[in-house]
Amino acid sequence: MTAKRRYLMCRPTHFAVTYRINPWMDPTAPYDNALAVRQWANLRQAFLDLGHTVEEIDPLPGLPDMVFAANGGTIVDGRALGVQFRDAERADEAPAYAAWFRESGFEVEMPKHDNEGEGDILLAGDVLLAGTGFRTSHASHAETQEFLRRPVITLQLVDPAYYHLDTALCVLDETNIAYLPSAFSPGSQAVLRQLFPNAIIATSEDAAVLGLNAVSDGHNVVLPVQAEHLTEALRKAGYNPIGVDVSELRKAGGGPKCCTLEVRA
Ligand code: ARG
Repeated sequence: MTAKRRYLMCRPTHFAVTYRINPWMDPTAPYDNALAVRQWANLRQAFLDLGHTVEEIDPLPGLPDMVFAANGGTIVDGRALGVQFRDAERADEAPAYAAWFRESGFEVEMPKHDNEGEGDILLAGDVLLAGTGFRTSHASHAETQEFLRRPVITLQLVDPAYYHLDTALCVLDETNIAYLPSAFSPGSQAVLRQLFPNAIIATSEDAAVLGLNAVSDGHNVVLPVQAEHLTEALRKAGYNPIGVDVSELRKAGGGPKCCTLEVRA
């Protein structure tokens, strides 16, 4: 369960907030690129300290959101499903990530419908939880199931602040998750209750600091240090929470998980 993980990350060399494609982004507000790079380097170091492997894809100028590697694809059993972004601002990231997958030896397929990778598609045990409503289209859930060969469970996101599944739900281990119920439609909340009766329920305060945008290896959970309630709840449930500060990246609507794509060879 706590096997060593392989992650792909993208240094935020060109990070900026120059457009607004989610409610967290304010192109008129100040941001500090150097601080973003330092916070990202600390996140990377936290993974290395846990014994995980971190590979890096070259950041491209003009793609300020490329730091959010989770949106680069979904890799399961050595098969890499590429991405198609909803927004033109991020479109050129898709071929860059696909090229990295190919060069790393993965079989790559590109989706025909909008699909923002692990931002919306999370492996939970044997199934894929797939968000829709804002970015990844429902039509893409079917092609995801077909190519990745895992059952896909569709979850309807309803709160624009939690526009990607990984902002509202975190997979903790093979059998459990943490999530914010109000980010999901009533039907999806019922599905989550059925599948994960022991889930950790996050507070709106946890979610508001993107606390659910966390990376778990099955025991250690790297999450925003500001998510105090969730940190305590994880500890009580037997996990080892590790707080990191990525407040500068939150200005683009991202947290630790957004910066991290799991490479499952
Ligand atoms: N500014 C980026 C966007 O709106 C943030 C992406 C965050 N990534 C994620 N996996 N939630 O697309």
